[in-house]
Amino acid sequence: MTDFDRAQLRRSVLYVPGDRPRAVSKAETLAADAIIFDLEDAVAPGAKADARETVRAHFAAFPASDRERVIRINALSTPWGTEDVLAARAAMPDAILIPKADDVADVLAVADALDETDAAETMRLWAMIETPRGVLNAPAITDLSRQSGARLDCLVVGTNDLAKEAGMAGVTARQHLHAWLMQIVLAAKAGGACVLDGVFNDHKDAAGCAAECRQGAEMGFDGKTLIHPAQIAPANAAFAPAAEDIERARRLVAAFASDDNAGKGVIAFEGSMAELLHLKQAERLLARAAAAAQRERSESP
Ligand code: COA
Ligand code: MG
Repeated sequence: MTDFDRAQLRRSVLYVPGDRPRAVSKAETLAADAIIFDLEDAVAPGAKADARETVRAHFAAFPASDRERVIRINALSTPWGTEDVLAARAAMPDAILIPKADDVADVLAVADALDETDAAETMRLWAMIETPRGVLNAPAITDLSRQSGARLDCLVVGTNDLAKEAGMAGVTARQHLHAWLMQIVLAAKAGGACVLDGVFNDHKDAAGCAAECRQGAEMGFDGKTLIHPAQIAPANAAFAPAAEDIERARRLVAAFASDDNAGKGVIAFEGSMAELLHLKQAERLLARAAAAAQRERSESP
């Protein structure tokens, strides 16, 4: 079982088009928790080979990074998929992102390709849920995160493709997607996987982006996928634990640790009941807060 470590930060996950060398190297200097180097939708058919080469050269020049790095390949059913898998596997990112995952077989096919080489032993798989079949099969896909060897530890929602595939249009599309987004969040939580919200398209609308980041956090997403550097700060803020929640978690941990409560499974805390599950929740929140604070220290000049 690869159960996603909830202390790991994936608040802000930035896509960068693989065929833009300047943006590819700039991405490593930004404050995103993770970067997705894209070979798929952001790259035109005529630029696929260029993108693959740019990403290969980037990983060769910078084999290590202090943030998580993911390569999004084209689906194996496309003319570019197989070459993408081989190139991504050789580049040694932390994970490969599989687009348009319709069912379990789409994930296992890439897992099989990684199993062919010991060098990729620790490489994880992320799966995009962005088709109607993907939404319906999200529970089975996420269940892979419980199987050793399946490598899956993150679902990424593709809101643009999903709205398109479902025939939704206009500015209200997200509103109509809500029921399905919550189904995907539920599947991820049941399977122990991380789940990331889709992108906010209007990168010049700062207030709109911040509001959608907060909404994603309220819905239970662990972070948001992003398209522009300006979206990183609002995502980091929205998905980091709030100051009052950190303080409350500290008080709860201290209460459980007090002599009076030693060995107890349930305690009275600030006028309500707290069980061991609340303690665990508080400890995870503090771990995330510590990781966020450490990242801030390492990013500040
Ligand atoms: N990652 C890293 N750097 C990025 C970036 C990204 N996603 N988007 C923009 N930048 C950089 C630009 O290279 C530029 O850097 P520079 O000043 O050093 O040259 C700077 O940020 C400002 O960019 P800006 O001029 O505001 O944006 P743009 O017009 O160049 O690009 C987009 C706008 C939307 C085309 C671009 O942000 C983009 O391609 N985003 C990703 C799209 C994507 O991957 N889609 C697939 C998943 S949905
Ligand atoms: Mg897509």
